Amino acid sequence: MKTIGEVKLPLRGELRVPGDKSIGHRAVIFASVARGRSRIFNLSTGEDNLRTVEAFKDLGVAIQRDGEVLCVDGKGWDGLCPPRRVIDCGNSGTTMRLLSGVLAGRPFVATLDGDDSLKRRPMQRIIDPLGQMGAQILSQNGKGLAPLEIHGGRLRGIHYVSPVASAQVKSAVILAGLQAEGTTVVEEPQQSRDHTEIMARAFGAEISVRGKSVSVTGGRVLSAREVRVPGDFSSAAFFLVAAAVTPGSIVLVREVGCNATRNGVLEVLRRMGASIEVLNLREEGGEPVADLRVIGGKLKGVEIGPEMVARTIDEYPILAVAGALAEGVTTIAGARELRYKESDRIAVMAGELRKLGVQVEEREDGMIIEGRGRLRGGPVKTYGDHRVAMALAVAGLSAEGGVGIDDSACADISFPGFFELLEGLCRS
Ligand code: S3P
Repeated sequence: MKTIGEVKLPLRGELRVPGDKSIGHRAVIFASVARGRSRIFNLSTGEDNLRTVEAFKDLGVAIQRDGEVLCVDGKGWDGLCPPRRVIDCGNSGTTMRLLSGVLAGRPFVATLDGDDSLKRRPMQRIIDPLGQMGAQILSQNGKGLAPLEIHGGRLRGIHYVSPVASAQVKSAVILAGLQAEGTTVVEEPQQSRDHTEIMARAFGAEISVRGKSVSVTGGRVLSAREVRVPGDFSSAAFFLVAAAVTPGSIVLVREVGCNATRNGVLEVLRRMGASIEVLNLREEGGEPVADLRVIGGKLKGVEIGPEMVARTIDEYPILAVAGALAEGVTTIAGARELRYKESDRIAVMAGELRKLGVQVEEREDGMIIEGRGRLRGGPVKTYGDHRVAMALAVAGLSAEGGVGIDDSACADISFPGFFELLEGLCRS
């Protein structure tokens, strides 16, 4: 049990957050299937990224740490070997879905498994398109759940219209498409994060993007390169909200990835009345990077509609906390996808915020939150979900007597050192 005490003073200070989890996965994947030695700087040491590293080691790729740098000696797609054991993706949906796209085109059988949370998450969404391309993927009892047994082989390009806006689905199809005969097109209902497209291009793939449609040509050889992973915007979001809801706070988060397909929370927080400045905007490896300065004040409730979902998908737990601390009502709608994350984030956040005295109406695709400024303190549960753990910690800063978090260790999945950083800001 981790206790987070109520803070009575403004938060002050400067910090950096770990490397972006999404970009980190892609850096390891592309480096592993490219030819030559890639060097990856600032890869997060969070468990999810480590799962992807271990998975490619299981597939025979030579990967080692040289101080702060991860060196990956790729030998091309054909350099991947049949794994000698079941690949354990842990809690990481990105590892399982993106790796499925890679393995769909490899001429061997591999089994992917994960923890109890990952075993409950929908995999049919990648089994369908990869199956149409020619891979055979067997799921547990044929129900589209892990473990997945992937029989890869020759693939053909397809035109896939995805029913969900999901970067994981899109990326799985792109990774298979890079190995397929001809051209593969994937279209989605809303544009999801485009880190795969950016990274693929950087490694030499032929890929073009037109609106919500991505097209890749198979058969190009990818070449090694250096990748600098920017700070994770989704991790920074916890500090943006913590500072924004605490009057008098001034917090600077340095070197954060600010990709426009990911930064919906900036728009929502600004609509809520938050003061957030984007400073020193620059580009690194095709990804925008900036320093973010937040000045704390009072927030007001807003409507967060379906158009925000793709750009804000991982920030709903912390936005629910922002809503609980704002004046007035915050409505989240069109976000049913949240039910398929590391936990059912609609049910879990509604339930835990109620324990803190907030009136929340749960909807099938979102929730309605009555803001109340100060929360009631007490014990809360994370359900093993890293983002729920960190969102509840931020809630604890505004809760009478603080909160006790049952499983704080799960924050390490994306953000090792989160609690130390938060406590450091509260002390300064
Ligand atoms: C991710 C995509 C999103 C996001 C997840 C990371 C990625 O999932 O929620 O945390 O790295 O591609 P979906 O693509 O399933 O929406």
